[in-house]
Amino acid sequence: MFSLRRTTQTLAQKRAFSASASQYYKVAVLGAAGGIGQPLSLLLKLSPKVTELALYDVRGAPGVAADISHVNTNSVVKGYAPSPENLAEALKDAEVVLIPAGVPRKPGMSRDDLFNTNASIVRDLADATAKANPKAKLCIIANPVNSTVPICAEVYKRHNVYNPKTLFGVTTLDVVRASRFISELKSTDPLNEKVTVVGGHSGVTIVPLLSQSNHPDISGEARDALVNRIQFGGDEVVKAKDGAGSATLSMALAGFRMAESLLRAKDGEKGIVEPTFVDSPLFKDQGVEFFASNVELGPEGVKEIKGLGDINSYEKELIDACLKDLKKNIEKGIEFVKANPPK
Ligand code: NAD
Ligand code: LMR
Repeated sequence: MFSLRRTTQTLAQKRAFSASASQYYKVAVLGAAGGIGQPLSLLLKLSPKVTELALYDVRGAPGVAADISHVNTNSVVKGYAPSPENLAEALKDAEVVLIPAGVPRKPGMSRDDLFNTNASIVRDLADATAKANPKAKLCIIANPVNSTVPICAEVYKRHNVYNPKTLFGVTTLDVVRASRFISELKSTDPLNEKVTVVGGHSGVTIVPLLSQSNHPDISGEARDALVNRIQFGGDEVVKAKDGAGSATLSMALAGFRMAESLLRAKDGEKGIVEPTFVDSPLFKDQGVEFFASNVELGPEGVKEIKGLGDINSYEKELIDACLKDLKKNIEKGIEFVKANPPK
């Protein structure tokens, strides 16, 4: 815990805040001192929807919390040094838990190359969440998302607390990128561009449905190049950072958008749709248990998983390639927990 004095402030601040906020929402960030964790926590501190922010990391979370706590919004920030007790305390009563904990890529690596390190990190954090606060909406940022989300589901099943409505792989960055890339091509405002991106979160599993965008006319080489850029946008950042990690700032924005959408939906706001990688009926008949598509959010988490709508033959081919990889990534996560259950 960051300090007793902060705890005292918490109660006073909570009371002051409850006069203006519709609900009291605690959000926990696990991996809060990292490249994503820090700017994500800052954005959450700026959100009027967040009344308490719990920052946990294996290193540096109390310092990050002290820093962010000076930002002049009413929410209370607590930083937790690493220990099982502190982790449980950070998780307790959180409405949303975000997990960016894990190592990022270096040039030449695929997201799957992170599996050996990140699978056990995510498994153990999911285990702690399943014990301390299984009802929280759990948002997985750590890669490879196509495998870490199934890992969380398996861990929750072991504790008999699995609720598919509250587990989300964060794929928001793919639609953020897609809207920006298409706006660059068409010289438009990216805020007016909506590109549905489905599938998973790596390479060919990322499938933009350009035929449903504002620019279904993009075709030929221009279309191929745009699809490729959306699928491999993460590589651009990894290459440019040259060994210093992957996307952090754009990811913080994307993770914040997902968290805030969940809180808005919890508050009863209707019609909130986000793309996210969830336990999905869409391709279960082909053995693919999880799939990212547009999902309407409600107070309980997933309200309605939207279908793909009309797709053209080009997109059908992209989906076929996606499903092949995705199935393997999902199975890898499930097998990992079977062979290496949480202790
Ligand atoms: P980073 O190394 O800067 O930060 C990771 C943080 O996690 C570090 O502070 C580290 O101390 C912490 N950590 C490690 N093990 C932990 C544990 N057991 N408990 C708590 N904290 C722990 O990395 P980053 O750039 O922030 O990226 C984090 C992850 O997010 C990577 O796996 C990366 O691939 C992924 N990512 C996902 C997306 C997406 O779209 N879903 C986008 C960008 C990055
Ligand atoms: C991204 O899409 O930027 C992230 O998944 C990080 C990465 O490894 O590319």
